[in-house]
Parts: sequence; structure tokens; C-alpha cells
Amino acid sequence: MQSEAYKKVERDFSIKRQHAQSDAKRFKKNVYDDNPKLAEIEDKINKISIKSIKSRIFSDDLSRQIEQDKLTSQLDRLNREYEEQLSIIGLSKRDFEPKYECSKCGDTGFVGNKMCSCFNQQLINESFKQSNMFKVKDENFATFDFGYYSSSNDKEKYGIEKSPLENIDAIRKLAYNFSHNLEDPAQKNLLFTGSTGLGKTFLANCVASETIKQGKSVIYQTAPILLDKMVDYKFKFNKTDSEREEYDKIFDVDLLIIDDLGTESMNSAKFSELFNILNTRLLKNKKILISTNLTPQEIKREYEERIFSRFVGDFIICRFVGEDIRLLKKKLTR
Ligand SMILES: Nc1ncnc2c1ncn2[C@@H]1O[C@H](COP(=O)(O)OP(=O)(O)OP(=O)(O)O)[C@@H](O)[C@H]1O
Ligand SMILES: [Mg+2]
Ligand SMILES: [Zn+2]
Repeated sequence: MQSEAYKKVERDFSIKRQHAQSDAKRFKKNVYDDNPKLAEIEDKINKISIKSIKSRIFSDDLSRQIEQDKLTSQLDRLNREYEEQLSIIGLSKRDFEPKYECSKCGDTGFVGNKMCSCFNQQLINESFKQSNMFKVKDENFATFDFGYYSSSNDKEKYGIEKSPLENIDAIRKLAYNFSHNLEDPAQKNLLFTGSTGLGKTFLANCVASETIKQGKSVIYQTAPILLDKMVDYKFKFNKTDSEREEYDKIFDVDLLIIDDLGTESMNSAKFSELFNILNTRLLKNKKILISTNLTPQEIKREYEERIFSRFVGDFIICRFVGEDIRLLKKKLTR
């Protein structure tokens, strides 16, 4: 049986497809309204095409050949004329085709009988209620703004030798390479640490976007929601197939992003789920990106040693420094 999420995504895709098609139709109609000549030529092309089909069916051999040649050359001429008219207004035939979001599957969700990665990702978004996935359209490497990071070195203020700008430049490069090396066993996982508003979630979204762009799957979830969900699942008596699938995805998805670690209220059940995620994914060489306000020292204090030792060995610790960008933005708009 198909899950609710699956049916919903199927419906959304069908709507998306219809939108692209009706947008294309509307665009063509507007162009034709402004350029009636195009409509005229198309009309002629259609009539001659019909004639050509008829002549193929009804005429005898010799007269058919002569008629066909005549019609073909007429069609060639009209098609050329049509394209010329279009190019005068800076368009080509391709501009009338529907603009599908996914060029691989034309928003059908399938390539042949294989599920397209865009459909798979949408399924994940749906079952994990990944509202931030709307954000990755705005928060990605192309929209990343260095302007919020100061270029002045101030060890006393920032606690590091480098300027916040040099620092973020290095982290951004690490993050970009990370998203392109997910399958590499030598590639370590990433831990973003730093105080509030320094762009940790933004950069995590950049990584998500870059990963999806490569046709890979991403789960983004905040630690409190993810761990609650997992504990609920563990204690649930009757598990449905789609709940089981969802749970398994946490361990199988190409990239798992856990945001806001340290904001959840911890208990032993959640500890063991967190340990389970880290352990299983590390063993399977499935990458994790964790973002937190805690410093490594605080992680050591708040989490068990076995969790901490994972962080030290298998993660690159990226320390964000600078000014709170939320505050900077407010100052700018004032
Ligand atoms: N590189 C950037 N370019 C443009 N905008 C950014 C950038 N980094 C962060 N922002 C914006 O600054 C704000 C704060 O960033 P973000 O939410 O990523 O901070 P954070 O480090 O995750 O904070 P918290 O610890 O509170 O979760 C957001 O509105 C975000 O869109
Ligand atoms: Mg954040
Ligand atoms: Zn697709």
C-alpha cells in the first residue's frame, strides 16, 4: 500500500506539471496575441500537415510522391519563416516548452521506471515535514553573503587569530567540499559550533542544497524534534510500514543534518538514540552535519564520554565567530 506521504507527493507533482504546462500555454498565447503573424503561420503549418497525412493515405503512388514533395517543401519554408519571426522578437521554439523544475524527469518523478531523486527527496521532505527545504532555494552557496563577516583581526573579541571573514571563508570551502565528497570514507563529518546568529543553519542549508543538486537525499531536522520522534517510534507498539521506512531513512539517507544540538532536554532514551545514529551512520560511511551552540567543552560536559569521543575523532570542528547576523540585519534595515 502506498503511504499518505507518497500519495501527497504524487498529487503535488501532477499539479506542478499542470502548472508548468498551463504557464507555457499562456505564454505562447500572449506572444501570439502580440504577433498575429506567428499564429497565421502555425495555422498554415497545421493545415498542410493534415493535408500531407491525407495525401499519404488516399493518393496513388506517383501523384502521391509529387504531392508529398510539394507539401514537404512548403512545410520547410513555413517552419523557417516561423523561426525567423520568432527570432525577430528574441525567442525560439524552446521558449514555448513547459519549464519543468526537474530536467531529468520533467516533473513526472520517474526516469523510465526508476524513481527520480527529486521525487525521493520530496518524499523525505513530506514525511519529515522539512519546512526548511523551502529555504534552500534562498540559502545556498550562490546566495552566501560574506559581507556579514568582519575582515578585522581581533583575538580578544573573537578568540581566534584569524578575522571572522578569513575564518568563514575556510569553513565555507570545507562545507562545499564536504557536500561533494559525501561518499569518500576519508571525508570526516562536520560539526558547526558557535553562538547564535553566526550563520550555522544558513551554511547547513547551503550544504543541503548542494547535496540535493547532485541528486542525493538529505534529512534536515533539529535535535529536539529528531530525538523525540525516534524515541516515540522506539516505544510505539504497533509500527506501520511507513513509520518503519521513515525511521530507517534516518540511518540510510545520504546526508543527515542535525540542527540545534544541545537545545533538547536530554534523557537516557534520547542519549541512546543519538548514540545509535552516530554509531550506525559512521559505520556505514553515511555523513552527518551537526550544528550546535555548545562548545566542544560543553558537549563533553553534557553528553556522555562515548558520544564526545565520536565528535573528536570523526568530525571536523568548525568554529563560527563574528557578529550576530540577525542583529546586523536589524541594524541595516533601521
Ligand atoms: N552567509 C550568509 N549570507 C546571508 N545571510 C546569512 C548568512 N549567514 C546567515 N545569514 C542570515 O542570518 C541569520 C542568522 O543565521 P543562522 O540562522 O544561520 O544563524 P545560526 O548560527 O544558525 O544561529 P542559531 O545558533 O541561533 O541557530 C538568518 O536570517 C540567515 O538567513
Ligand atoms: Mg541555527
Ligand atoms: Zn526529477
